[in-house]
Amino acid sequence: MKIAFFDSGIGGLSVLHHALKILPNEKFIFFADEDHVPYGTKTREEVMQFVDDAFKFLISLNVDAIVVACNTATSVAVREMRRRYDLPIVGMEPAVKRAIDLYGDQRVLVTATPITINSEKIQILIDKIGKRDLIDLLALPKLVDFAERQEFISADVENYLREKFSAYNFEKYSSIVLGCTHFNYFKDTMRKILPDNVKFVDGNEGTLKELMRRANLSPTIDQKISAPEIKFYFSKREIVETDQLERIKIYLQRLDEMYII
Ligand code: DGL
Repeated sequence: MKIAFFDSGIGGLSVLHHALKILPNEKFIFFADEDHVPYGTKTREEVMQFVDDAFKFLISLNVDAIVVACNTATSVAVREMRRRYDLPIVGMEPAVKRAIDLYGDQRVLVTATPITINSEKIQILIDKIGKRDLIDLLALPKLVDFAERQEFISADVENYLREKFSAYNFEKYSSIVLGCTHFNYFKDTMRKILPDNVKFVDGNEGTLKELMRRANLSPTIDQKISAPEIKFYFSKREIVETDQLERIKIYLQRLDEMYII
């Protein structure tokens, strides 16, 4: 099956990275909308237009399923894309329910982009879970810029996170939800700042379960293939240049390091 993973930028690689582990025999297209990243600080209308364009392109590649590996694009456009196209379309939303299910009645800090944090969709999600008093929301837009320029560890990253986290008494929190796929690159700096009781929760596993359910796929257990078939696109340009492919490799290596934190 040919599965497209779509994000505003390179955050979606964290979902693809996980897919490569559990579905190594599928064919993958990775589309990062590098011409328009970041989405999270733009208007919903702009994001809808970008997603619309990206979908038209992905459909022209005859993909069999599309994973919107972007919480922001999902919150703006997934419902509309499902209405327009008849193929499995999987979206992502901050894994707040998973955090509450895993850790019970302790506080949860949900981090995401401004669009996701200010969306009606996240309010509906919180209402559905019914633990509003335990859930705090925090936008961390600068992490997207840091990730895009491969600034994973630096004094600026650390100071930014320290400042943003300073308002919370983390002794009372079970977990932090990484509600933007770009945030997975910063788990080591977050770990350094947060006390050990705060666990990371992301939506990668849930998203792939949903992909397998919608596309009728089963996980490939214990079977590694050496060269999975992946084509990378930055906006509509296929990436074939060695330096660009090297750049992507650095992200995937970084995700290998972050996978176990
Ligand atoms: N990676 C995206 C997300 O999961 C959005 C980042 C951005 O473009 O602002 O929300």
